[in-house]
Amino acid sequence: MGEGVLRAAGQRGSGAVGSPLFADAGLERKHGTLVLSGVSLVEVAERAGTPAFVYNLAVIRDCYRALDAALAPVTHRICFAVKANSNLAVLRTLRDLGAGADIVSAGEMARALAAGFDPEHIVFSGVGKSADELRAAIRAGVGHLNVESVEELELIGRIADAERSQVRVGIRVNPDVTTETHPYISTGKSGIKFGVPTDQVIPAAEFVLRHPRLELTTLAMHLGSQLMDPEPFRQGIRRLLELVDRVRRVGITTLRVLDIGGGLGIRYSDEAILEPAEFAAAVVPLLAPAGLTVYLEPGRFLVGSAGVLLTRVLYRKHSGGKEFVVVDAGMNDLVRPSHYQAYHEIVELIEQGRPGTRADVVGPVCETGDFLALDRALPGLEAGDGLAVLGAGAYGFVMASNYNSRPRPPEIIVDGGKWWVSRPREQVASLFDSERVSP
Ligand code: LLP
Repeated sequence: MGEGVLRAAGQRGSGAVGSPLFADAGLERKHGTLVLSGVSLVEVAERAGTPAFVYNLAVIRDCYRALDAALAPVTHRICFAVKANSNLAVLRTLRDLGAGADIVSAGEMARALAAGFDPEHIVFSGVGKSADELRAAIRAGVGHLNVESVEELELIGRIADAERSQVRVGIRVNPDVTTETHPYISTGKSGIKFGVPTDQVIPAAEFVLRHPRLELTTLAMHLGSQLMDPEPFRQGIRRLLELVDRVRRVGITTLRVLDIGGGLGIRYSDEAILEPAEFAAAVVPLLAPAGLTVYLEPGRFLVGSAGVLLTRVLYRKHSGGKEFVVVDAGMNDLVRPSHYQAYHEIVELIEQGRPGTRADVVGPVCETGDFLALDRALPGLEAGDGLAVLGAGAYGFVMASNYNSRPRPPEIIVDGGKWWVSRPREQVASLFDSERVSP
C-alpha cells in the first residue's frame, strides 16, 4: 500500500473547518452544525434517519467541469465509471454535463440507459462479461466493447454473426505498469486478471481484422484506482501508442479512440492529490500528437468527495483497555475501511466541544473486521450524536450489502440548497418477500 494513498484506518486526517476535505465536499460549519451546500445535515439525519448516504451534486458538477476543462486541448469524452456510484440522479447529472458512461455489467447498462445516456456514449468494460450481457449490449448499440481476452473476442464474433450486427470493439491492454495503490485496486500490472497482455494484442487485432462483423476502434487501459502520480499514466499511454503503430501496421485503419481508463485519486485525509491541470499537463503532450479521441473512465474523482455517510452513535464501551464507539453504520453500508483498510474522515454533525479521545469506531455487524475507523483521534462522543463519514460518494452505497439482513441505507441528494430522498431506505420485508421456503 502506498504512503499517502490509502491511509491506514487509524491515522489522523484533517476534517477541521477550512480544511481541504471540507472544501472538497462542499461542507461548512454554521453555529457548530455541519452544512452541505446550504443544507443542514442535522436536519437530514433527523428526518431521513441514519445511516444514510448524501450526495452533493454541485461538487460532482465542479469535478466534472474541472477535468473536462483540463482536457480541452485534446478531443475527449469523459465516460463516468458507473461502478463508483450508480444512483440515477447522479448519473443524470453527469449525463446532463455531457459525460458518457463506463459500465461493467448488464445491470449498470440498464441504469445508464434509464438515466438517459446515449448508448453510443457507453463503453462496456469488464473481465467477465457473460454471453447474455454481450448480446444485450450489442442489441442496445453501446459505443464499443472493451474486450479483455482473446476468448471473449471470439465469443463476441459469434454473437455478432448470430445477431447479424456490426460490433465495435476495443482491446483493453494490460500495459504492465506499476502503480502505487492498494493491491486490490491495482489493475495495470502483468500477472493480474485484467487486460490483454501486450504480446497478445496483435493476434487479437488480427482476429478483428479477419472478422467481417467486427471493427477495432479502440485501444484501452485502466491502471488502477486512487492514483496520485501521473507517471504511470505516461508509461501506459506510451505503451498504448506503440501498440497503435503496430496495430496500424497490420492493416487496421479503424482506430479512433485511445481509452486511458480511470484512476484519478481524491483526498481522504491530508494527502496531495493529482489535480486535473497537473494530470493534463502530464498526459496531453503525449496524447495530442496521436490525433485520436481520448476516452477517460473516472469514477471516484467525479463522485467520491461529493458523498457523506451519516451515522449515529448507539453506544460507547470500554473493553480490554480500549474505547469503542458503536455506530449504526457497518461494513455492510461502507465496506472500504474493513476491505481496503481505507481511511475515511469522521466528523460530528454538531460540535459538542467535549474533550477528545482515541477510539475504534465500529458498526453493528457481527465481525471484528466491522469498523469505520481504528484507534482514531475523535472528539468526545455520546450515544445519540450524529456523525458524517466523509469521502463516501464513491464505492460506498454501490458496495453496500444486506449482510446480517440489514436493509441498505437511503441515497439522498443535495442540490440548489434543497435535499430529497432519491432512493429510499430498503425495507426489511423487501429483503425476503420473493423468497420461498418450499417448492
Ligand atoms: N475503468 C475500469 C475498467 C475500472 O476497472 C475502474 C475501477 C474504473 C474505470 C474507475 O476507476 P476510478 O476512477 O474510480 O479509480 N472499490 C474500490 C475501487 C475499485 C475500482 C475498480 N475499477 C475502492 O473502494 O477503492
